[in-house]
Amino acid sequence: MNKDVIIACDFKSAEETFRFLDRFTTESGKPFLKIGMELYYAEGPAVVREIKRRGHRIFLDLKLHDIPNTVRKAMAVLSRLDVDMCNVHAAGTIEMMRAAVEGLTREDGTRPLLIAVTQLTSTSEERMQRELLIGAPINETIVKYACNAREAGLDGVVCSPLEAGMVHEACGAEFLTVTPGVRFADGEVADQVRVTTPARAREIGSDYIVVGRPITAAADPVAAYRRCVAEFLANE
Ligand code: C5P
Repeated sequence: MNKDVIIACDFKSAEETFRFLDRFTTESGKPFLKIGMELYYAEGPAVVREIKRRGHRIFLDLKLHDIPNTVRKAMAVLSRLDVDMCNVHAAGTIEMMRAAVEGLTREDGTRPLLIAVTQLTSTSEERMQRELLIGAPINETIVKYACNAREAGLDGVVCSPLEAGMVHEACGAEFLTVTPGVRFADGEVADQVRVTTPARAREIGSDYIVVGRPITAAADPVAAYRRCVAEFLANE
């Protein structure tokens, strides 16, 4: 199992991103990075290619959700960017997720990891029921969406670290849980609500933790990254 820390590069420009990445020397390693909509929409595929060229693995977090045919074709384009992980919304249905796998799969049979967003952690049970008319408890929908993702051939889901245990129980130990909402025990929580520490995320069963501000806003980001890796990968 390749457990790892993924740094969320929530920067608004390539310039800001590279200023941050330049702090990491060969000695501090090449962190696995998450590129989200803000940076991708600002800078396009060029920033992905440049980060790849610098030797980082990339989780391209664009959360595709459209008709299956559109998702298949869009995923084929992302696959050619040679990213390591991408994602879709499980709400797009099993058929859409299967189309995503097809689109991502290269001629030689390889493809980036593909994971699904179950319920966004910003969606409360109350809003899900009142606005979306989904009557089931939110945890039931998370497990059902994760099972749908597995049935469609995906590799895992994005979820809260607090949900990683129940997802593994339903979908198996090999099914990946990629979890944001991680904070140091003595750190700022900011706008995240359901948070836990790197060590606790490991205990519950997260495979990859996605960490943004505790690293990117730290006075010494390289030291914060190293601390995160040490706490998350202890005893691995
Ligand atoms: O700065 P912070 O550690 O809160 O960053 C977490 C990252 O994970 C952000 O890029 C955020 O958009 C992303 N994310 C999240 N919760 C989700 C899905 C993604 O925090 N449910």
